[in-house]
Parts: sequence; C-alpha cells; structure tokens
Amino acid sequence: MKGIVFSEFLELVEDKFGFEMADDIIDEADLPSGGAYTTVGTYDHHELLTLVTLLSQKTGISVEALVQVFGEHLLGRFYEAYPVFFEGVNTCFEFLDTIENRVHVEVKKLYPEAELPTFSATFPQPNVMHLTYTSKRPFSALAYGLIKGSATHYGENIAVTMIDQSAENLTKVVFELVKQD
Ligand code: HEM
Repeated sequence: MKGIVFSEFLELVEDKFGFEMADDIIDEADLPSGGAYTTVGTYDHHELLTLVTLLSQKTGISVEALVQVFGEHLLGRFYEAYPVFFEGVNTCFEFLDTIENRVHVEVKKLYPEAELPTFSATFPQPNVMHLTYTSKRPFSALAYGLIKGSATHYGENIAVTMIDQSAENLTKVVFELVKQD
C-alpha cells in the first residue's frame, strides 16, 4: 500500500490523539518498515491494520469506526492532492462512478505497484446507486469513509448502507447509496 495512505493516517492520529499516541503505536507495532513512511514508497498493508488495531485498543474506538473516519479525512486530502479528478464532476454519484474507470486507472499509471480494489456501479433509480466493492484486502470500511467523504465534498445528504457479501471478511461489499432530498 502506498506511503501516502500511511502518512495521512499518522497525521490524522497526531491531530486527533496527539503526537505521543502516534509515537506509541508505531513503537508497539514493531513494524518491518520501522514506521518511517515516504509518500511514494510502498508498504505492506498489514502494517496499517496493525496500527489501527493498536489505536483501537488504546482509544476504545472500534477499528471499523476509526477506519471510516480515516476514509472521510482521506477524501479531503485527495481533493487537495489531485483536484483534477474533481474537475467537471458535479455530483457525488457521478464522482463515485469515475473511480473504477478513471481515478484508480490514473493512480495505477502513476504507481504501477498500487494495489487497488474494483468497483462496479448500477443505478436502480435516479436517486439510488449500488456500488460493489471487491478487493483482496479487507478495506471496505475505508471505502465507506471515502464514500461518506465524497458526499460531504459535494454537500449532498446521502444515506449509505453496507451489505457484506463475503462471509464477513469484508472483501466484497455492496454499498447502497440513497440520495435524500
Ligand atoms: C481522487 C480520489 C481518489 C484517489 C486519488 C485515490 C487513490 C488511491 C490510492 C493511491 C490508493 C492506495 C493504493 C495502494 O496503496 O496500493 C487507493 C486505495 C483505495 N481506494 Fe482510492 N482513490 C480515490 C478515491 C476513492 C474513492 C471515492 C473510493 C471509494 C469509493 C476509493 C476506494 C479505495 C479503497 C477502498 C482503497 C484501499 C485498497 C483496497 O481496498 O484494496 N478510492 N486509492
């Protein structure tokens, strides 16, 4: 997983829980990388899960909740780092529909070693989007946070329900998004 994801995560931890907390979880995690992430480097995604699990133990907040909040934060950072992906894209559904065939395609060109999930979208009604997440990694909670962050970015009120389709290892999930008016 790309270093940008790790460095953004640790910055958020510092912001919300303080520098010592970030330092403590890195120390305790005893990571192969030593926790010194560079934006362009690539690291084992298990390191992120180890850091989140330790943070969850220390704060009493569930891993899922922490990863979701991180996803919401990350969307804002993606907007700052890659504004081009938002240009000419006017609604949340439209934006989410570009991730598979545009955004992650460009990410893969920039970082050939990136490990990305797959999304497929259907629109059963104009105000309803079904977005199916499939990955080898259990980061559907991150997708949930990124979806919520996208709705916030577009100032839209969207109810999101997550339906696990993978016997609970969270590698295949259908998100039902219902735009409220
Ligand atoms: C401008 C917007 C976006 C950019 C630039 C972006 C870029 C990236 C990058 C760099 C990674 C890390 C790949 C790796 O570490 O190997 C990633 C992973 C991921 N992205 Fe995106 N992304 C964007 C939007 C989204 C949105 C809106 C969603 C959700 C619908 C999403 C879902 C995910 C998930 C869940 C992962 C984790 C890997 C996995 O689950 O297998 N991304 N993305």
